[in-house]
Amino acid sequence: MPEQISFSPSRGLHIITWGCQMNVYDSARMADVLRPLGYSPVDLPDNADMIILNTCHIRERAAEKVFSELGRLRQIREARKLEGKATLIAVAGCVAQAEGKELLARAPYVDLVLGPQTYHRLPEMVARIARAGGNVIDTDFPVESKFDLLPEEAAPQNEGNLTAFLTIQEGCDKFCSFCVVPYTRGAETSRPVESILAEAERLVASGVKEITLLGQNVNAYHGDWKDGTASLPKLAAILHETIPDLKRLRYITSHPRDMEQALIDAHRDNPIFMPYLHLPVQSGSDKVLKAMNRGHTADEYRDIIRRLRAVRSDIALTSDFIVGHPGETDEDFEATMQLVRDIRFASAYSFKYSQRPGTPAAGQPFQVAEDVKEKRLAVLQALLREQQDAFNASLVGTVQDILVTGIGRKPGQLNGRSPYLQPVHFDGDPSLIGQIIRVHITAPFTNSLGGHLYEQEGTAV
Ligand code: 5AD
Ligand code: SF4
Repeated sequence: MPEQISFSPSRGLHIITWGCQMNVYDSARMADVLRPLGYSPVDLPDNADMIILNTCHIRERAAEKVFSELGRLRQIREARKLEGKATLIAVAGCVAQAEGKELLARAPYVDLVLGPQTYHRLPEMVARIARAGGNVIDTDFPVESKFDLLPEEAAPQNEGNLTAFLTIQEGCDKFCSFCVVPYTRGAETSRPVESILAEAERLVASGVKEITLLGQNVNAYHGDWKDGTASLPKLAAILHETIPDLKRLRYITSHPRDMEQALIDAHRDNPIFMPYLHLPVQSGSDKVLKAMNRGHTADEYRDIIRRLRAVRSDIALTSDFIVGHPGETDEDFEATMQLVRDIRFASAYSFKYSQRPGTPAAGQPFQVAEDVKEKRLAVLQALLREQQDAFNASLVGTVQDILVTGIGRKPGQLNGRSPYLQPVHFDGDPSLIGQIIRVHITAPFTNSLGGHLYEQEGTAV
């Protein structure tokens, strides 16, 4: 409805984000592109002139969850209408990409449907609705790159924060049997080095000390650089050399097949690389890995880990696991347990296999029974939890460099982040926020560590 958008100087924007860090990043960039139109973030959807639901398609019943949330947003919109206020509702992200048309058919009150590759066109879409009414659907994979078209002067997404995400690569050509990402995010593409460098410089100039480079296959990165391309370790070296105030660098998510020796070596040679790697393995059974189309064996994964530990013995390893992929037997599951015992992870995510419509595994025979999946998941998670506790406990008594990120929950307490990505709590003065300081770790918890400032002890540990 054209009258829905009145050109008041300031408008409220509420973005609800589900799913991965890439979506968190995309949400922030959508806020960036809408800022010139007068939109600024509000905490409650009830106060928003525009609500964006940024969706994830990975988990079970993703579309149903979107429809139920949309029902709630529709009520908010009705209530606002009674007060004479209009509300634009947009659905973005991977569910929008995969099920855009069905979405509009089932929820015609949605004004805007946009896929992950088109959010740079948001202002244009909003203007089109303002001009002509109706709704807009844009789930193209456009030839132009959204990164070239995002506002140069955009405020960093983590304004005022010390850590930030930065997307360097998108999409996936791997086609794992269970995964929707190649269909929703499209083919692997890398952003040019210059564009990443410019964004990293803006982030660091605004106070960011630690950047996490994002990509569905981040270690497949090959971005344009001078007359050729740069790989991930090259990009990391360029960032380190060009931006001295960038203190810490991470990257997520990697694929074992792209874990080249140059990247492994960079964990020894590039001082800003943190000793942390998320490297999903999914299964420890060669038969299941083959059925998953992962393109590597369990022993090849073990060998990557051996080479990583050879250059950086303290590296914290995390992973993703799926139990109950079609065809997985007790023996296959035991192979996964053995791999976990062999590697020892610092933490991990584990999931029951769930059928994603349109993916090869969804149509395979020999689907594993739900109760079997549940039992396997519980057994795997118990072992992973034990390993996480053991990893955290192993740091007690050590002194760690902690990036102080903010005020803690208890009076006098500060929060920080360890090199291994654990949250750390300790007492200290708020003036330390933004610095990297030494903290003596004294208490292990499951998801964090406790400690106190090393300098205050007077004696060496
Ligand atoms: N079922 C269960 N887990 C899945 N993942 C992706 N697709 C599925 C699925 N169909 C998990 C994988 C991936 C993580 C992001 O989500 O472990 O690494
Ligand atoms: Fe999905 Fe596999 Fe691509 Fe990862 S590598 S995004 S699991 S298809």
